[in-house]
Amino acid sequence: MESSFITDTQTIETPRLILRKFELSDAQAMFNNWASDSEVTRFLRWDAHQSVNVTREVLRGWVGNYGEGHDYFHWVIVLRETGLPVGAISLLNVSRRDQCAEVGYCLGRRYWGRGIMTEALRAVLEFGFLRAGFNRIEAAHSVRNPASGRVMQKAGMKHEGSLRESYRSSNGFEDCELYAALRSDLPAGAGCESDETCTLRQKSKGDFSDE
Ligand SMILES: CC(C)(COP(=O)(O)OP(=O)(O)OC[C@H]1O[C@@H](n2cnc3c(N)ncnc32)[C@H](O)[C@@H]1OP(=O)(O)O)[C@@H](O)C(=O)NCCC(=O)NCCS
Repeated sequence: MESSFITDTQTIETPRLILRKFELSDAQAMFNNWASDSEVTRFLRWDAHQSVNVTREVLRGWVGNYGEGHDYFHWVIVLRETGLPVGAISLLNVSRRDQCAEVGYCLGRRYWGRGIMTEALRAVLEFGFLRAGFNRIEAAHSVRNPASGRVMQKAGMKHEGSLRESYRSSNGFEDCELYAALRSDLPAGAGCESDETCTLRQKSKGDFSDE
């Protein structure tokens, strides 16, 4: 693997969003806006936090992982307009051997249905392919969570198949749909504009999607 590829979370800017490293001071907003909501965590592998102290502990672990150069990609999603942290998106299960990773995300309920996660996912896919050096990024969603599948489709990921009882949420085993994008799926002209900050031109609806 070429050593010039980014191996740590780096700020990404899109028209409406700033994706940046988490800070300990994000704890209260994270707790209030998404981590305490069992509706948000319904299909996730973790339970809603019962107190902000839980969120603080979780954040302490995450923040401690930054800067180690070991493929740690974990962004808080901040609305440019208000400066408010509203969700999270990450690249997990990285294999440098296979140049692949998995993407996961969640967003505060109050912000659903505004295209926010689609905007964040497009940006993270572009970052993953062009800056972090991945060839394939995959994602899976519970069959009971079709909104997440729609986000994957709108971000240009392709449906690859179904996975039976692929993981466990608080409701038990979840059957999933598997999606993936390849670097070769990126539209011509996609790119990051500076080494310090990845400022992504967002395509108009449909440009990076096969809808
Ligand atoms: C899934 C989630 C990330 C979507 O984020 P979002 O910012 O609301 O997504 P967007 O607004 O970009 O797109 C949502 C799409 O799903 C569609 N949708 C919403 N509910 C739906 C449903 N029940 N069935 C089918 N499509 C649905 C919306 O209409 C929209 O599609 P459209 O633009 O074609 O109309 C957000 O709801 C969330 O964080 N949920 C809780 C955590 C979670 O489930 N994470 C994913 C785990 S795989």
